[in-house]
Amino acid sequence: MGSGEWGVGSREWGVGSGVMGIGALGNGHRAMGIGQWVMGNGHWTLDIGHWTLGKVAISPFPTPYSPLPTPHFYLTNIIYRYMMFLYMMLLARSEKTMQIRLAVISNAGGSGKTTLSVHLAYELAKRSFNVALMDLDPQGSLTLFCGLSPPEPEHTLAAVLRDNFDGAWPLTPCWREKTDKVVLCQGGMVLTQTADELVLHKRGAYLLSDRLTDYPLDHDLIIFDCPATLGPLPLMALAASTHIVIPVQLEPKSIQGAAHLLEWYYYHCKHLRLKPEPEILGFVPNQNDSRRAAHRQMLSALPSQLEQMNIRAFPAIRDSTEFVNASGQGLPLHLYRPSHAAKDDFKDIASYIAGLIRNKKKTTE
Ligand SMILES: Nc1ncnc2c1ncn2[C@@H]1O[C@H](COP(=O)(O)OP(=O)(O)OP(=O)(O)O)[C@@H](O)[C@H]1O
Ligand SMILES: [Mg+2]
Repeated sequence: MGSGEWGVGSREWGVGSGVMGIGALGNGHRAMGIGQWVMGNGHWTLDIGHWTLGKVAISPFPTPYSPLPTPHFYLTNIIYRYMMFLYMMLLARSEKTMQIRLAVISNAGGSGKTTLSVHLAYELAKRSFNVALMDLDPQGSLTLFCGLSPPEPEHTLAAVLRDNFDGAWPLTPCWREKTDKVVLCQGGMVLTQTADELVLHKRGAYLLSDRLTDYPLDHDLIIFDCPATLGPLPLMALAASTHIVIPVQLEPKSIQGAAHLLEWYYYHCKHLRLKPEPEILGFVPNQNDSRRAAHRQMLSALPSQLEQMNIRAFPAIRDSTEFVNASGQGLPLHLYRPSHAAKDDFKDIASYIAGLIRNKKKTTE
């Protein structure tokens, strides 16, 4: 240990304090000058103008045994801390590349796909996740439900799917006075033409997946709101997704439609050779009116029917006209009627998705 230095250590090891870490200068090396950082054996140490013998650590604080730190010392300290900050930011960014891509699919019209998409987006945003909504529906309902103006065709998902797409995703912030965590890639009538073109395109079913590979988005969750068909647009969503969720109304027509959807899912996972296959997150019963015996009956039978196929049934979303009113105002229920209990019906499924995002992040760490 050099004379007059403050620190704990032997010729082999020293213990640094604060941000300084362990010093590792070679034996008998002359220090480089007052207040400089010196790199040795992969570690930085601070030279304060003494002979250093062995590996020595030095406190960043002035002591009776060390000279006062110089301005140069403070500058290097700040640079070091800044570099650490940048490194942490890089780590955080790399975590976010593992994202959940959730296709909300149902071939039954009005089953609640768009309602579920909007409320899940807001619930996850509340939990500090970044969410991108994508409207694959020519009806463009998400534009209405998010309170936005109808887009120009070049500002829709249709533009993303064109061969000349350059990576500039047309994403518009939603409910920007309340959150900065939700954006929407708008849909619209132009997608009917896109659907026709997809059939002829060599990579039609994989086009959205290709775009997300070539021009990745760093959102934690991407939600694909699909039209009520089992045509080329939902097929493209299936191929781009990691998970699918199926909203169903508690009525025979909707349940029967969901059975066809499952057939469609298994067939296309196999024929598109999706590896890994997008996982079925579960069914979400919607518009449940607990006063109606038929609803109560179907709701109690659904979990055991699905269990046989290893599919989860999430708690039902209750029937409430406030959903209709909220969508007319372009808001999720959370913002339209913050005290309304129905907004809590999305919590279970939102928690499940949040868990998936976190687990995925853990596996990348
Ligand atoms: N739980 C609910 N209670 C009452 N009304 C609801 C509920 N969920 C959705 N709605 C209303 O039902 C209508 C259809 O819902 P939504 O648009 O979400 O269904 P969709 O499956 O996206 O329809 P589409 O197949 O046309 O895309 C909307 O007016 C919506 O506000
Ligand atoms: Mg819809």
